[in-house]
Amino acid sequence: MNGNGESMDTVAVHGGERRPGPDGSVVFPIYQGTVYEVEPGTGYHDLKYIRLNSTPSQDYLHDKLAALEGAEAAVATSSGMAAVTTILLSLMRAGDHLLASDCLYGGTHDFLTGHAADLGWSYTFVDAGRPETWEAARTSRTRAFLVETITNPLMRVGALDQVADFGRREGIVTVIDNTFASPVNFRPLSAGFDVAFHSATKYLGGHSDLVAGAVMGSADLVERVRKTLNHFGGALDPHAGFLLARGIKTLALRVQAQNANALALARFLEDHPAVAAVNYPGLASHPDHAHAAKLLSGFGGMLSLRPRGGERAAQALLDAMTLAYAAPSLGGVETLITRPAATSHAGMSAEDRDRLGITADLVRVSCGIEGAQDLVGDFAQALEKAST
Ligand SMILES: Cc1ncc(COP(=O)(O)O)c(C=O)c1O
Repeated sequence: MNGNGESMDTVAVHGGERRPGPDGSVVFPIYQGTVYEVEPGTGYHDLKYIRLNSTPSQDYLHDKLAALEGAEAAVATSSGMAAVTTILLSLMRAGDHLLASDCLYGGTHDFLTGHAADLGWSYTFVDAGRPETWEAARTSRTRAFLVETITNPLMRVGALDQVADFGRREGIVTVIDNTFASPVNFRPLSAGFDVAFHSATKYLGGHSDLVAGAVMGSADLVERVRKTLNHFGGALDPHAGFLLARGIKTLALRVQAQNANALALARFLEDHPAVAAVNYPGLASHPDHAHAAKLLSGFGGMLSLRPRGGERAAQALLDAMTLAYAAPSLGGVETLITRPAATSHAGMSAEDRDRLGITADLVRVSCGIEGAQDLVGDFAQALEKAST
């Protein structure tokens, strides 16, 4: 539901749409033009120019993205990484400090460890599930607190409501990467977060055929992010923006199907003798299940498992899948299966991976929208092959 009581199915289709559209078009067209004639007195950031994120296709997409997260405003970026780096560059000054979850997406983690010091920022990684540790980690220069709704690849759900409360109490801007949940399963701004962002490459686009990011929040904050983006140059091309808006129209349908598939698959895997462990917040056995059930309206399409038989069995499982593709990334209509230790977390030392539970035998699944029985059947045959 959005603030007007409309369901996400309706918001995904109608949110941000122009009624009537240009020349009566039901589908908002692609304005490919780079530049537009200037009205006298127009300021730099208001010139209509693609890199300044101000052309008709971009305005339309921004309204659609804002509607999705129930935000005052939104801005699209050229990737999820452009979204998070531009948010941080907008909020942080040299000398500032960042609190960040210790389970961040690898690219975000590597941005901090590789660039924060050069920018004059300090940061402390904290457990987003242990609020009692945050006060000691903050400093008088803590500007922002960065977390993810559902973490990769163990699908942990932090004490998100307490992150929002802590930020409000302490005057710290709370920023959340809502990529894994999508606005269908979690609405960060209603939960008290200041800024939500997405790798729109994943669920928002939904078809593994574009790269984009999205930032949603108050009009003031988004305008600061847009101006920073204008300087750093991470604008989204109108063609990718068109694909993104088209993908968003089916977001609710897709994510509901992915939630259902992931739950069915997690239940099947949990009872399977060839499986040692399953990580899915929708299972009662997951350590965050109780509070995830209160915070989320769906548990998402992502899960991970450890087949019995170690790394060899994990690789054999990938090799034996027939429907699922052995590929990283996530959020598309096809089921994808990957070994994080060999892909997303390959840059990390084996000790660090083991400490975080990202063992060599861990397999991550991004459920697509195939029929649940077919998906379960594919895993059943692949587990059988992998365990012989
Ligand atoms: C949770 C999360 N955040 C951010 C990103 C970065 O997004 P992009 O690849 O669109 O830059 C990813 C990419 O995998 C991700 O999984």
